[in-house]
Amino acid sequence: MTYAVEVNNVSMHFNMNKDKIDNLKEYCIKLLKRQLFFEDFTALQNISFTINRGDVFGIIGLNGSGKSTLLKIISGILKPSAGSVTVAGTVAPLIELGAGFDADLTARENIFLNGSVLGFSRDFMRQKFEEIVEFSELEEFIDVPIKNFSSGMVARIGFSVATIVKPDILICDEILSVGDYKFQEKCEKRIQELMSDQTTVILVSHSIEQIERMCNRILWLERGCIKAIGGREIIPLYQPDFEGRDS
Ligand SMILES: Nc1ncnc2c1ncn2[C@@H]1O[C@H](COP(=O)(O)OP(=O)(O)O)[C@@H](O)[C@H]1O
Ligand SMILES: [Mg+2]
Repeated sequence: MTYAVEVNNVSMHFNMNKDKIDNLKEYCIKLLKRQLFFEDFTALQNISFTINRGDVFGIIGLNGSGKSTLLKIISGILKPSAGSVTVAGTVAPLIELGAGFDADLTARENIFLNGSVLGFSRDFMRQKFEEIVEFSELEEFIDVPIKNFSSGMVARIGFSVATIVKPDILICDEILSVGDYKFQEKCEKRIQELMSDQTTVILVSHSIEQIERMCNRILWLERGCIKAIGGREIIPLYQPDFEGRDS
């Protein structure tokens, strides 16, 4: 089997308290009267698809359509409410600024923190440190706490660490759309090198042009359901339903 990722009938529900309760007394009264209602919000519904090894797989859809939730499930950060995901190989998730970062630590310390989150040893990180810093182009700021960084600068660190070793599956959630154009180009180039080396890439981007340029397969999510899946030919069909759940 040459699947890199197999998503099998995955659904994701979030429980959200429907009523806003102002104080403990009110809560107890409602509890006694059995008036506590929990709304079950379905972020993903019966999603099934496969990603082949070496694919650059794009996910498109409006804000709130479930893209990040799906990526977190594939990365193993979230457990689906129903269904299953099988992943062949190592996953490097570049999901959200914040995961694997500590704002009070310097860029240098965050590089080591990120490395350990991805399972790299401290020795290995020491060996690769110069290379990571060089790719990130943040030499001058290496001992500055990253709370002073722009989101683009933080994304540079994350990308530089996550791609220092070829992962089997690289997951990028919107990270390539932050930062300047030149760095984006450099990241794209590195992704293309990984692709030629059989790394599977899953990409969510604001830029439909970027998806079209880089991806050979595309999944279009709408309100937690698959609207379309296929090759680049689905891009011209992409007319998001703006009545939908946009935030
Ligand atoms: N932890 C959570 N609790 C409740 N609702 C959530 C949670 N995470 C995501 N959602 C909801 O699930 C829906 C899909 O979110 P998300 O996967 O982030 O969409 P996208 O990445 O496509 O913008 C949104 O309506 C969002 O509000
Ligand atoms: Mg998202």
